Amino acid sequence: MVGATEAAIQAGNVVRGTTSPNPPVGCALVDASGELIATGATSPAGGPHAEVNALREAGDRARGATAVVTLEPCNHTGRTGPCSHALTQAGVARVVYLTADPFEPAAGGAEHLRDRGVEVVFQPERVAALQPWLRSVRNNRPSVTLKFASTLDGFTAAVDGSSKWITGEKARELVHQDRATRDAIIVGTGTAIADNPSLTARYPDGSTRPVQPRRVVVGTRNVPEGNLTRLGFEQYATPEEALQALWETGGRDVLVEGGPALAASFLELDAVDAVQAYIAPALLGDGRGVLNRSIADTIAHARRFRTTCVRPVGNDVFLEMEKDVYGSR
Ligand SMILES: NC(=O)c1ccc[n+]([C@@H]2O[C@H](COP(=O)([O-])OP(=O)(O)OC[C@H]3O[C@@H](n4cnc5c(N)ncnc54)[C@H](OP(=O)(O)O)[C@@H]3O)[C@@H](O)[C@H]2O)c1
Repeated sequence: MVGATEAAIQAGNVVRGTTSPNPPVGCALVDASGELIATGATSPAGGPHAEVNALREAGDRARGATAVVTLEPCNHTGRTGPCSHALTQAGVARVVYLTADPFEPAAGGAEHLRDRGVEVVFQPERVAALQPWLRSVRNNRPSVTLKFASTLDGFTAAVDGSSKWITGEKARELVHQDRATRDAIIVGTGTAIADNPSLTARYPDGSTRPVQPRRVVVGTRNVPEGNLTRLGFEQYATPEEALQALWETGGRDVLVEGGPALAASFLELDAVDAVQAYIAPALLGDGRGVLNRSIADTIAHARRFRTTCVRPVGNDVFLEMEKDVYGSR
């Protein structure tokens, strides 16, 4: 079953960034001997869900099989039919799910399956790919991840303003990989004007990846002609307006890439759900901080997070933290 669980999680990982407003769910079907029959993942909005894609691939072999799904099968008819019904119709004997569905209209899949004689097992596990979506449906706004690159002593630029490059190539490659899994990238007008960024997700050779996030700028100043204007971007006057507009148009998972004024604003709004820090083993002693102002006057008031990932990336260190961890009862 460990193999099937891994296969389901992996299938969900692959479609991150392509499924909003739906969650990136993965499903694996195994037969009675434990052999993997099929995998499936959520299609873009309006398309089949993970379970249906896996069932289609399995065909008749789904009868009597075990389905491992990263999220409780949905039980409602939206743009597609309920997955719980598709599983019973296909004759699946057992369903293992890793995360309970907190989305009220879709919940109840486990009960539907049990009522029809399917063995249902809830095997709680933190599925990283689902965390942003879970947070978004609980908060009724997109999940916000604050990302920054800094030196070991917390500076994002030197005293002369230079910041290219604090981290190495491997870290920058990871940033681009991550961008492709997000619905939008947000920066302030300060960064848009100072850096003339393209905010695209690219491969190391500079070519653009097939899936691109929306490009969002927050602030009232005009962004001069440059990369962003050429590619097209959305601009909102405040962080609240940006989050509202993104939520209403299907945005569930967004990345705030700075700068320090905008990052402090999102923290003051208590709208930072996760942090990604790329820390370079370098010291500056002075320079520009990750935030441009104090957000806590004493240690007891510091904004704290739970560390979920620490790993070396090239010669740098990647840290991931979350405010809350959802998904298991
Ligand atoms: N190392 C890193 O990870 C990193 C990442 C990004 C940027 N940077 C650096 O950061 C520097 C730019 O920083 P910055 O602080 O000047 O700019 P910024 O944070 O990108 O943008 C600041 C602007 O955002 C808007 N804004 C912020 N909070 C707001 C709020 N609560 N309501 C409404 N608007 C709000 C305002 O725009 P208006 O004034 O237009 O209304 C404000 O002037 C650049 O040099 C860049 O290279 C470093």
